[in-house]
Amino acid sequence: MRSLSRLGAIATEDLAALHLDLRAPPEHPDRPHVVLNFVVTADGRASFRGRAEIGTRTDRELMFHLRSLVDAVMSGAGTLRVDPFAPVVKDRELQPLAIVVSASGQLPLENRFFRIANRRLVATTYRATEEAASALRHAGAEVLRLGEEEVDLPALLGLLHERGVRSLLCEGGPLLAGALLTRRLVDEIFLTHATRVTAEPGAKRLFESAEPLAGEVHLERVSLHESAAGERYERARVRYSS
Ligand SMILES: NC(=O)c1ccc[n+]([C@@H]2O[C@H](COP(=O)([O-])OP(=O)(O)OC[C@H]3O[C@@H](n4cnc5c(N)ncnc54)[C@H](OP(=O)(O)O)[C@@H]3O)[C@@H](O)[C@H]2O)c1
Repeated sequence: MRSLSRLGAIATEDLAALHLDLRAPPEHPDRPHVVLNFVVTADGRASFRGRAEIGTRTDRELMFHLRSLVDAVMSGAGTLRVDPFAPVVKDRELQPLAIVVSASGQLPLENRFFRIANRRLVATTYRATEEAASALRHAGAEVLRLGEEEVDLPALLGLLHERGVRSLLCEGGPLLAGALLTRRLVDEIFLTHATRVTAEPGAKRLFESAEPLAGEVHLERVSLHESAAGERYERARVRYSS
């Protein structure tokens, strides 16, 4: 039970000491180090009534902490459409680049994403109309078209790397996470196992993908902590094999 030997109770104030190695992430030749952060219900769902209100305050604090350790934070358009996306950190000088991936380029311009002080990037496709792209630019986002139908994720990560982004935190949602995983672009996952059971029919799971995975994918646990409320916080490396 090597994994459980690492299990330690954690309180909100202890979170700041965790995962500081992300500030000096492993180097990759042509892309940033990519980590996902998700919370799942005890019965394996990543959404509840169309949103991600599954975890406790400690889970949210962990999310804020992870944001403070990386160069860029990324979300899919579906997640932005149901919740504000505002990866703002305490240190005003160190705001991570905020990225949204959207094939259509149709984003709600009233979302907080368009008001935060961070630099903003929308990665979209040639499917996005010029009208949608110019509305995004007008709202303060850089717009990059990378792909015809879907955003070419390796190209996006390559471009971020060229611009000096060494660590990228993806906060979902399931479709974007699935697209990254099928392309073997996820290095680590921070997974909160909530205590809540929702049993909601059709609720999305952590990874949703139209394409099957090539080969096998395994999670190799790095650490596991537990809060007084019984919520568990797992960090795991993603291992791919043929
Ligand atoms: N439990 C958690 O930690 C967690 C985290 C995040 C989200 N969620 C939940 O997940 C649900 C949303 O799920 P979702 O799968 O729709 O979210 P999503 O992955 O954020 O959004 C899907 C949308 O993102 C865009 N997209 C994703 N991959 C793309 C690619 N490779 N190329 C181009 N566009 C791409 C597309 O945008 P367009 O539609 O513009 O083409 C697609 O429709 C919500 O209920 C949310 O609350 C849960």
